[in-house]
This record gives sequence, structure tokens and C-alpha cells, in this order.
Amino acid sequence: MEPFDTHEHEVLVIGAGGAGLRAAIEASAMGCSVGLVTKSLLGKAHTVMAEGGIAAALAHLDPQDGWQTHFQDTMKGGSFLNHWRMAQLHAQESPDRVRELEQWGALFDRTPDGRILQRAFGGHTWKRLAHVGDRTGLEMIRTLQDRGVHQGLDVYMEFTVTKLFTDGGRIAGALAYRRDTGRFVLFRCKAIVIATGGVGKAYQVTSNSWEYTGDGQTLAFEAGAELIDMEFLQFHPTGMVWPPGVMGLLVTEGVRGEGGILRNSKGERFMWKYLPEARRHEYAADEAEARAWLDAAVEGQQTEARRPPELSTRDNVSRAIYTEVREGRGTPHGGAFLDISYMPAERIKKKLPSMYHQFKELADVDITATPMEVGPTTHYMMGGVRVEPDTGAATVPGLFAAGEASAGMHGANRLGGNSLSDLVVFGRRAGAGAAYYAKGLTATPRIPDAEIEAEMRGLLSPFERASGESPYEVHRALQECMGTNVGIFRIEKDLETALATLATLKQRAARVRVEGGRTYNPGWHLARDLRNMLVVSEAITRSALLRKESRGAHSRLDYTGLDPALGKVNMCAKRSGDGMQVGPTPLPEMPAELKALFDAAPQPAGKAT
Ligand code: FUM
Repeated sequence: MEPFDTHEHEVLVIGAGGAGLRAAIEASAMGCSVGLVTKSLLGKAHTVMAEGGIAAALAHLDPQDGWQTHFQDTMKGGSFLNHWRMAQLHAQESPDRVRELEQWGALFDRTPDGRILQRAFGGHTWKRLAHVGDRTGLEMIRTLQDRGVHQGLDVYMEFTVTKLFTDGGRIAGALAYRRDTGRFVLFRCKAIVIATGGVGKAYQVTSNSWEYTGDGQTLAFEAGAELIDMEFLQFHPTGMVWPPGVMGLLVTEGVRGEGGILRNSKGERFMWKYLPEARRHEYAADEAEARAWLDAAVEGQQTEARRPPELSTRDNVSRAIYTEVREGRGTPHGGAFLDISYMPAERIKKKLPSMYHQFKELADVDITATPMEVGPTTHYMMGGVRVEPDTGAATVPGLFAAGEASAGMHGANRLGGNSLSDLVVFGRRAGAGAAYYAKGLTATPRIPDAEIEAEMRGLLSPFERASGESPYEVHRALQECMGTNVGIFRIEKDLETALATLATLKQRAARVRVEGGRTYNPGWHLARDLRNMLVVSEAITRSALLRKESRGAHSRLDYTGLDPALGKVNMCAKRSGDGMQVGPTPLPEMPAELKALFDAAPQPAGKAT
């Protein structure tokens, strides 16, 4: 057998972004020995890409806000496909989690009288996003990292986990390899929290970096857990479209929250055309009202004016930009213009410092003087591991999940800023759930040597083939397939094409050849990551085929309306032998007292800022 190192913990957390760190802190605070494994370096997580803020009904600027409105906004944004209990817990607990971050040292921007400042974001009725300029996720990671390290977590950096082991159906441990040396490592544990983030690298244009290859979703799926809502992939409306080397890099929604206006190549402010009829009353009727809203927001004053159309939900803004480009009204590099240059330069630099530097350094564009060019970018997976809301427990005993790798909280479309709050609300709950479960087990479960050996042999097989394709070729073909056939707008024929292509790519991925040794070998790493990307791509495509309607981020050109029957189900992907079975499962029924919130009379058109 290949040599390997062994570590033992009661709770193993895989993924060290906001959800993983918060889970690890909680499990450790409950007295568990915790191992925190990260594929990358500690502090480098997609959490930092939630730049514009963390959503919480603190009601510092808009006293009318409260958890009920946050809950309603989240459910409406998710087209009512969210698990009501997750949306409720999230709305109720996010203010406490923000105050906790502040107590742990996070430095938020302030109102003149010293309270945490909040800004507007798409789909939120009130100004709700606590923020640190446009670096909120970074500040959150810094804070959680400090807290976790001082609490004595054992951190394993640059480790890729490739398999979860079970003993009699319960979680027993995981196999990983060190990315620096290629040496194998066995983790024995009682409970595992999956917090590995998203799947963006299955697409070419994405805000995600190299780590986000659907690892946690696939590990859980292969261990027998259920994946739900995988058809709902969020395309953030504003990524950079130029220069090519940074295509897809995020341009925070905070730009629109601070007054950024979207125009096409004819200079038209096109978002008014795309507001859904049912929600049009929530938005400013014309330029004058949008301007009045902004002026009041800048002055921190109350107003009856409604928010600008650029603050529609992300699914809607992405479709709008995509359509403008497809119909020939795109910018020179195939996007839309996002203009904040009409605001005072000093205000832009203060509110959006990272965006100012990002465009200056990467595109030689001064956003205080010139509009940005932006277009949709693959950003966030609403689907993932099905969890029990209060504890984060997956359907496999001992397995827990939180953050982007889990599902249920955001339904068919996530509101901006709800991810950072999701990470800390459900990271804490999953950490507690895992700790409680682990404390209830007397002995550490067993892992047969044969299973460890089989996994190591499989991992080394790409080195042993005399011939075979490069994993980079297969990855390029996968990204091309998903971008072309399973993008913002979908149609049956393309989805069928994608499924057939994915079947071929699976065979190609199983035969790739890798040269060189195991020390820092990115080709070898990609060979393993490909398996994960193929699993999540298949789940996305199969679920998208079955959802014959357009809801939230899932838009079918052949089924453009909502199907009420499909509003009552989540698509659920499960392992079946070596294959995947996908089908509808019933959505939990919302209790009457929460339903009543939506039966109340519609809110008046005028809103305070
Ligand atoms: O646009 C942004 O700042 C991203 C926020 C988010 O994804 O929540």
C-alpha cells in the first residue's frame, strides 16, 4: 500500500471560507477537536467575492425593516422554491451574526452617528447590506480566520479531499492528498462538515477561481447524499468583459447600490424594459424618481421615491444584459455600460475602492471618468447538498453541509448579500450540529484498508497510462459544452446535446494521462477535479431538463412561463449504482403564520430609502 499520514479529529470541516470557518469555530467552542481542511491557502476563499455587503435587517437606515420583510424578500427572490425554515432562520439570525462579527473585530463602515452603515442591493426592499466599502467578504474572512486560529483549530492548507468513507452508513473519515508533495493523508473522524463552495469552474466565464470545482457536492453525492436545486445557477449580471485575461471577474453589485446606471450602446437605460410586471410597482417609474431615490440615499434621508430599476434581482438583470447584447445593442467588447462616473470622484473612490483599482490596473479604465463594460458571469450555485435546516445535517448520518455547497436557503435565485449572512448563520448551525452528533458517538468509526488503497490507486492511475489525453483538453471541452448548452437561456435540444457530450467527456476524463511527479502537479490536480465538475454538470443538466418552466435563474426558451406544479417541488439528484437519478421531491409546506405575511396587503408604492 502507498504510504499515508493519519490525523484524527472528532469533526472535520472541509472548506475554509466563511461557512467552513464559522462551522469550525462553533464545533471547537463546543469542545470538539476540529480539523479544518482547505484546498487553498487560509483566507483565500470565494467569500471575498461577496464584495458589496452582508444582508441583515438591522434597520439602521430604514427603521421599517425587520426579519419578516427580509424573509419575504428572500422567498420572493427565490421564486418561493426556498426551504421556508432556512429563509426564516436566516432572516431572524443574521443581525446577531453581524453584531458577532463586529464583536470579533470586523470593522464596518459607519453612519454619522456611529452605527453600522447599510446600503441598497437588488431585490431587498430596504437598505440592508452592512459593508466595508467593497471589501466586505475580505473583512469577514479576516475576522473569522483570526478568531479560528486563536481558538486552536488544526488547519490543513493545500489539501484536496477526494473521498468520504462511511462505516455502516455513518461518516467515518476522508482521504486527501497534499497539493505540495502529493502525499496521501487519511482523516479519521466522527462527523464531517462540507463547506467547499461552488462549481463555477465548470464554466469558462466565471467569477470563481480555480478551487471551485464542485468538490463538496460530489463528495457528498458519492457518499450517498442528495443534491437538490442544481438547475439554479446564478449568473451575476456584472463581470468584467475585457481584457480577455480577466473576463468574468466580479464587478460588485455595490456599484449599482451606490447609483450605477446600466446603458446599452445606444445610450438607452434599458432596465425599465425588463422589470417583471408583477414587481414593476416596486421600482422608480422614470429617471426623475430614480434620481430622487439616489439623492436621498446619498444624503441619508427618507423619501417616497422608489429604487432604480438596476436594483432588480440578479436573474433578471443578467437576462436583460444578455438580451441587449444578443439583439445587437452591446458594447464594443460584448457587454453593457455600467456608469457611476456622474458621481463625485471622491465618493466613488471612498465607496468602491477595489472597483476603482481593479478597473484602473486591469483595464486601464478610470471609473470616475468613464463607464465600465460589464456582462454576466457564472457566480453562485443555489443548489447543493440537501440539509436539515436547523442542524445542517445531510441525509447521510454524520455528514453536514453549509454555505454554497448546501441548498435550500436561496431557492431559484439568491439575493445579493444573502450569501455572507447564509455562511455565518448556517455555518454556525452546521458546526453545532456536527459537534452535537460527534459527542454522541462513543467510538470513532472504522475504515477498511481496502477502501483506502482502492482510492489511492485510482488517484495515481493518470500517471500510469502509457497514452491518454491531457486533462486540460477535457476541461476546455467541458466549459465549452456547459457555456454553450446550459447557460442563461436553455432549451431542450441543447440540454440533450449537453447530456450526450457529458457522457463522452466522462469517458475521456477516465482515460486522461498526466506527466511528471506528484509534487505541485496542477495537471494531476485537474484530473481529479474533472470528476467533480462532471458530476455537478450532469446534475445541473438533468435537473434543467426536468424543470420545464422558467423560474428564477433557470430560463427555458421552450417553456417561458411558471408551472404551478413545479413550484411545489425540488429536483433531487441521487446516486444510483454508478449513475445518477434525478426526479422531483416535494417542497416542505410553509406554516400558515408565515404564509400570512404574503397575504397581507401589498406595500404602498412609496418607500423610505
Ligand atoms: O456583487 C457582489 O458584491 C456580490 C455579492 C454576493 O454575491 O452576495
